[in-house]
Amino acid sequence: MLRPIRNLATSFLLLPILAGAHEPITTKLTWTQEISRIVYKHCASCHHESGAAPMSLVTYDEARPWAKAIRDEVAERRMPPWGAVKGFGQFRNDDSLADPEIEMLVLWVEGGAPKGDDIYLPRVPVFPVISRSAPPKRGITVHGETTLAHAITASGIAPGEMPAGASMQIVAKLPDGTVENLLWLRNTRTEWDRPFYFRQPIALPKGTLIAVHSSVPALILQTESKRSKKDR
Ligand code: HEC
Repeated sequence: MLRPIRNLATSFLLLPILAGAHEPITTKLTWTQEISRIVYKHCASCHHESGAAPMSLVTYDEARPWAKAIRDEVAERRMPPWGAVKGFGQFRNDDSLADPEIEMLVLWVEGGAPKGDDIYLPRVPVFPVISRSAPPKRGITVHGETTLAHAITASGIAPGEMPAGASMQIVAKLPDGTVENLLWLRNTRTEWDRPFYFRQPIALPKGTLIAVHSSVPALILQTESKRSKKDR
């Protein structure tokens, strides 16, 4: 509860400064053109009215008081929350910001966070109600180490429920000696609790050793048998 209270205080303190008519606008980036598009793509799925996040960032008036916090969160890569360590496994549901998007958000905030002309505003996306708790269908639960008795095609990983601050690292050692880095969660937060889907399904032959370094088990998700690798 401490964080929201601090944030509220911070945003109240910043409001008069940020909203002040004298702050010079030193950027061509605007909310209605570039910034709303980035926010709708990467942030609004949680930051909308009755979404998972505590405040909506859908309109300029909603987002503007949070400008400095937005800059800090994206510059530190804390938002959008993702959790997996970059470069350790590749995931298709990774909705992290690309470097140019981070740079645009930062430059927009530092340039006075201007609104721009309403005619450029994109349509507000429709937010589907997603049940985050729908259990994944097929998989092998691994607690510690397991050697596969038969070949599988892994489509992703659903980590077990981890306490905040815990870590999980998963590697697969193939019979030919190759090591596949599957997933690494470090200093996890509860809102990162979600499945991670590989960019490409990973074929793990019989005899592969899967090692889950964590106090909780992980579910190695398997592709549906009828679906071919090509059809996504
Ligand atoms: C998966 C859901 C989700 C997505 C996507 C997401 N957020 Fe958040 N955001 C949260 C939650 C939950 C909180 C409150 C808890 C926290 O601070 O972690 C939060 C808090 C914040 C805060 C307040 C941080 C603070 O404590 O000062 C800012 C600013 C923020 N988000 C900006 C963004 C931006 C910008 C994006 C897109 C680039 C984004 N968020 C994407 C869920 C999300």
